[in-house]
Amino acid sequence: MHAITVSMNGAGCKLSVAQSKVCSPAMLDDVSGCRRCVRVFWTVVDRPFQRLTATNQPKRRTTMINESMSILRDGEQDWLPIPLPGAEGVFVKVLKADEEMDRVVVKIRFEPGTRMPRHIHHCRAVAYTISGHWEYDEGKFGPGEAAWEDEGNDHTPWSDEGAELFIVFDGRNGRYLDNILPCGTVVKLDMPFLKAFEGVSLKEAAEVDVQNLVEVIAPAA
Ligand SMILES: [Fe+2]
Repeated sequence: MHAITVSMNGAGCKLSVAQSKVCSPAMLDDVSGCRRCVRVFWTVVDRPFQRLTATNQPKRRTTMINESMSILRDGEQDWLPIPLPGAEGVFVKVLKADEEMDRVVVKIRFEPGTRMPRHIHHCRAVAYTISGHWEYDEGKFGPGEAAWEDEGNDHTPWSDEGAELFIVFDGRNGRYLDNILPCGTVVKLDMPFLKAFEGVSLKEAAEVDVQNLVEVIAPAA
């Protein structure tokens, strides 16, 4: 397996292979599949944020009542495009990413006819359906219904009509979701990535420097 790192910065998203754990850039030249996967990932990450950043302002809506209690308000928080190949039209709000509790709370919105990449859970999840319908091979969910997912679940959610979900993830040592791209590349979205997008606006999301926050593992050559 070949590990590489993808970064985004304020000037737009840029790919970096400098943090490679296994492959040097020279080695990547010899791994055509790896280079192709990363190029696709970078392209998809780059475009949504660049396209949407101009019209948004910071809108944090979390109130900390005391050290053990907060109020989360998502009403005016921006929907962020999910920066994964194949997830175009799926948006997220990271309402809370608590490193101490190893818990992340998000809302997800599927536009009609969209899907998430196949993903494998290192976390537990409760995915409550607020509106619309969504499904994966194991079941279909409508308003008021929730998916109760343990570690190890491996599935590909989609929605034909569109849907909005409220999801609580309980991580395992900061690990959350391994997303499997059609080419076999694994994009690992764990606590550092999720924390970076907690409560941010689109404008702020475009400025997040997530170098070293996203690990991409290419399929074996
Ligand atoms: Fe899932």
